[in-house]
Amino acid sequence: MNKIQDAPISRGNRILVRCDLDVPIENGKIQEKYRLESSLETLNYIINKEAMPIIAGHIGKPDGKYVKELSTKYLKSYFEEELGSQNFQILENLRFDPREEENSMEYANEICKGIDMYVNESFATCHRKHTSIVSIPKILPHYAGFHLQQEIETLITVIENPEKPLVFVVGGVKLESKKPAVVKFLNIADCVLLGGKLAEDWKEDVPSNLILPMDNIDGKDIGPETVKEFNRIIEKSKTILWAGPMGMFEDPKYQNGTKSIAFQISKTTDNGSLSVIGGGDTISAVEKFGFLGKYSFTSTGGGAMLQFLSEGTLPGIEALE
Ligand code: 3PG
Repeated sequence: MNKIQDAPISRGNRILVRCDLDVPIENGKIQEKYRLESSLETLNYIINKEAMPIIAGHIGKPDGKYVKELSTKYLKSYFEEELGSQNFQILENLRFDPREEENSMEYANEICKGIDMYVNESFATCHRKHTSIVSIPKILPHYAGFHLQQEIETLITVIENPEKPLVFVVGGVKLESKKPAVVKFLNIADCVLLGGKLAEDWKEDVPSNLILPMDNIDGKDIGPETVKEFNRIIEKSKTILWAGPMGMFEDPKYQNGTKSIAFQISKTTDNGSLSVIGGGDTISAVEKFGFLGKYSFTSTGGGAMLQFLSEGTLPGIEALE
C-alpha cells in the first residue's frame, strides 16, 4: 500500500483527501468530532508541505440529492479553526450526487480535474465500492493517510498476533452485519460477549466461548448479572476489541450496561491490556461518558472495522495497492 509519507508532494500541489466527515450534526452543530480529528495529522502534513488539501467526503445517507442538514458547510468553521481558513478547501457532500454511490468513472473524472494526487483518510468508508473510494485512485496517484495506516496496523495485530486472552465485545442492533465478525472471533477469541439487541437475535448454537446476556432491563440494556460477568471476563483479558453499545445508552435509564463496560475496558487498558474500540455509536457512547481517549486505539470504522476484521482487507485498501 502506498503511504502518504512516500508521496512526492510539492509546493502548490492540490491534493484530494477523502476524509471521514460522517459525524452527527444537530441544528448545524457538530455533536462528536473524533472522525474529523483523525484526519488532522494528514491535513497538516500536506499544509506544511505548502500544498492545498481539498477535503472530500460524505455525511449521512442523502440518497443522491441535496439535503440541507447534511451539507459539509457545517464543518467549515471546525476546519478553519484547526487548519487556518486559507489552508484548505472542502467539497460539498459527495453523496448529494447519486453517482458517488454508483461508483461512476464519469463522476471520478469530474472530481479529479485540477487535482494532482489522492489520499484516503477515510477508513470508515473503505468497505464501500464508491467513486471516491475505489474509482478516483484509478485516475490519480494514491496514498494512505496516517490514521488509515494506523487503523490497518492495529487491526492486523488484533487478528494475527493478539496477546491472549482475547475478548470480542459486540453490541448494537444489526446482527446480520456483525455476524461474520462474530463467527470469525468465535474461532480465534477466548470469549465473545454479545450485548445489545443483536444478542436477542442470535438463534444459532451457543458455543462455550460465546457469552449471551443472562438478564436485561426492559429488553433495552443488559442487566446487572450480565454486567458483572462481562466485566469479570474483560478484567482478565489482555486484548479487548469492542464494537457496539450494550443497550439504548442515549436514555439514562438504559445507559448502565454500556457505561460499566466502557469503564471496565478503560480500567483494564490502564492495567496494561490492549483495547481497540470502534463504530460511530460506540464512539458517541464513550464520549458521552467521558472515556474517549482512554483506550489503546479508537477506530473510526463501524461497518468497515467489522468487515476488515472478518475479511482481512477492504475495497478501499485494495484500491491503494
Ligand atoms: C460509517 O458511518 O460507518 C461510514 O461513514 C459509512 O457510512 P455508510 O454506512 O452510510 O456507508
